[in-house]
Amino acid sequence: MDVIEVIRAKRDGGTLTPEQIDWVIGAYTRGEIAEEQMAALAMAIFLQGMDRAEVSRWTEAMLDSGERLDFSDLARPTTDKHSTGGVGDKITLPLTPTVAACGAAVPQLSGRGLGHTGGTLDKLEAIPGWKASLSTEEMRRVLTTTGGVICAAGSGLAPADRRLYALRDVTGTVESIPLISASIMSKKLAEGTGSLVLDVKVGSGAFMKDLASARELARTMVDIGNDHGVRTVALLTDMESPLGRQVGNALEVAEAVEVLSGGGPADVVELTVALAREMLLAAGLTPGEGGTKDPAEALRDGSALASWKELVREQGGDPDAPLPVAAERRVVLAPTGGVVTRLDAYQVGLAAWRLGAGRARKEDAVSFGAGVTLHAKPGEEVKAGEPLFTLHTDEPERFDRAAEALEGAFDIGAGDEWKAAPLVIDRI
Ligand code: URA
Repeated sequence: MDVIEVIRAKRDGGTLTPEQIDWVIGAYTRGEIAEEQMAALAMAIFLQGMDRAEVSRWTEAMLDSGERLDFSDLARPTTDKHSTGGVGDKITLPLTPTVAACGAAVPQLSGRGLGHTGGTLDKLEAIPGWKASLSTEEMRRVLTTTGGVICAAGSGLAPADRRLYALRDVTGTVESIPLISASIMSKKLAEGTGSLVLDVKVGSGAFMKDLASARELARTMVDIGNDHGVRTVALLTDMESPLGRQVGNALEVAEAVEVLSGGGPADVVELTVALAREMLLAAGLTPGEGGTKDPAEALRDGSALASWKELVREQGGDPDAPLPVAAERRVVLAPTGGVVTRLDAYQVGLAAWRLGAGRARKEDAVSFGAGVTLHAKPGEEVKAGEPLFTLHTDEPERFDRAAEALEGAFDIGAGDEWKAAPLVIDRI
């Protein structure tokens, strides 16, 4: 087969055949297709799109480029969640042990943060001793013992995606719905989950800024999952404002523990419970019936917290150890009084990133204690001169640039200017 023919076919709006797709992904993984040729093909796909059969085959070819885990022999049904990423999105932390406490098993392969959105592994690594890298045997042991495991994806899973994602990142071809869908789903299918719930975020702090694109991304991924025998549903959820009151690694772990202890911010609790119920249903269990606990009950009765502690301990962490705290703090005061009518997730994420909570390049280290505490969320009242944000960092020279990011990040107005928007916008 000739790669130039494949590029031309897609460039001219054609449909790639299954044979062409299998060959391209296989040859690229073996290093037989030059980076510039794959970049040209990615751009042709970006411009011309792919139909359902093409995306499904592309995903399968990437899946076949590496190993595929299999947990179908576990006593419990497996289910997982993937979030397209947002600001303050610590949901995996309370969600995994909650679902485990309700009776399903959660094999969760997570990533690190890049840019303004945080990564689950960075958050968990704030816990002294906690280990992200597990062998497949260790992963299986933790999953069997605790009903949950959260770890880094090994390099053997969907290696074609690893290379292709790095190439897309430097060729302006990341924002393609078929390529994003195939990239995410090849990794999720490789981890061997029996069912999957996608949290597709919409809004300023999300990858997808508008509802129509988020809906298309969700639909494409749901189709891929179901085409591959993994029962998949998606929730479209709001990411105009950050989730919870804490943005930053250790700050978010502390907030997750509050939720697991039966407290915590209402939006984090609501989303944790909504996603947990969907995960149980996708796994064939009915929350609150037939011995399956309802997730809200697991948060109230301490079983989710017990499951969290077990999960952290099994991965080498000390769930009771003090979390890292940033060396310096600066409080930003409300310039006027009124109701917070807007709080921009992207700008808060940018401020946390500038304080050291995120990384600019994948080799960078993150500061565990850095981040932003939100004292007033949309719909809440503040008085002039009261704290609006607390900034946390180890390097005080970072304060000014972080405060700049927050300057246009909020509006304070009259109460009637604010209207509550639903957190869960739709289900697909
Ligand atoms: N996350 C992924 O894993 N892949 C993409 O293409 C985009 C976001």
